[in-house]
Amino acid sequence: MRASSPVGIGLLGCGAMGAELALAVGPASGPEGIQNARMAALFDQDCGVAGALAAQLQGDVPTFADVSGLLSADGVDLVVECASQAAIKAHGRSILDAGKSLLLMSSGALLDPDTYRGMDEAARANGVEILVPSGAVGGIDALRAVRNLLDSVTIVSTKKPEALSGAPGFADWEDRKIDGPTVIFEGKAIDAVGLFPANVNVAATISLAGLGPQRTMVKVVADPDSPGNVHEVDATGAFGEFSFRFVNRPHATNPKTSYLAVLAAIEALRSFCEPGPRIGT
Ligand SMILES: NC(=O)c1ccc[n+]([C@@H]2O[C@H](COP(=O)([O-])OP(=O)(O)OC[C@H]3O[C@@H](n4cnc5c(N)ncnc54)[C@H](O)[C@@H]3O)[C@@H](O)[C@H]2O)c1
Repeated sequence: MRASSPVGIGLLGCGAMGAELALAVGPASGPEGIQNARMAALFDQDCGVAGALAAQLQGDVPTFADVSGLLSADGVDLVVECASQAAIKAHGRSILDAGKSLLLMSSGALLDPDTYRGMDEAARANGVEILVPSGAVGGIDALRAVRNLLDSVTIVSTKKPEALSGAPGFADWEDRKIDGPTVIFEGKAIDAVGLFPANVNVAATISLAGLGPQRTMVKVVADPDSPGNVHEVDATGAFGEFSFRFVNRPHATNPKTSYLAVLAAIEALRSFCEPGPRIGT
């Protein structure tokens, strides 16, 4: 679907990624900004965060204290989620049932079969879209193209310990000194997303595109000398093989999030809103 009039965006989650995305929307953000779009409403569970972002935006963008307010705001066509897996599990279906398309960053939530099925059904029933940007890696298009020919997909994510801090899967390591590269987790994507909910959305997106969460293998490594948030993806199969390596600069305000993920979200939103060819999708 291509919109002819400016797409009204309702933002769910106004933290590091949401704020940057909102500031990139509309003519006020300059020629590099996302055109044919406007910020229509903001919601964050932390009202102060939403209010602070509203104060930085042009015009009078209303803030809401719950998702029903966001959905009933004037002119919301597309909800952009930059919040958490929990937010998608709680609100994904009602957003789609309200007839809004949903661009979501917390892709790990879709590895839960009930969440995936419910949202897919709701999107189809209401004629709206679910968009999952490539996030902190690229090559999702290639994985998608060969998904029926894949034998193996592995992803190794290496981050500084502070970027893993707070994750349930890092709890045993919080007070231990990590001097060099240390494997914190090795196993299936389905298990990784629960243990590292804010860190392995990349693994979730890769498994959704390729072999699925039971057969996509994930390794999480803590390394104090890691040059950034590093993701290495290897795929093999009857098509041949490919490898990608991304050395991402962590986002300035949230080291768990890669700067590339923010840029990918902006690009996905641009592709949804603006006219013109869609390259690489
Ligand atoms: N797909 C990817 O490759 C990728 C990459 C990086 C981050 N992410 C995910 O994107 C999301 C946003 O990242 P960020 O760096 O902006 O995080 P952040 O912590 O900086 O901001 C998240 C904001 O969402 C709000 N929030 C969380 N749960 C909420 C809920 N249930 N209802 C309303 N508000 C809620 C928080 O109060 C916070 O202000 C995270 O889930 C993160 O894991 C995905």
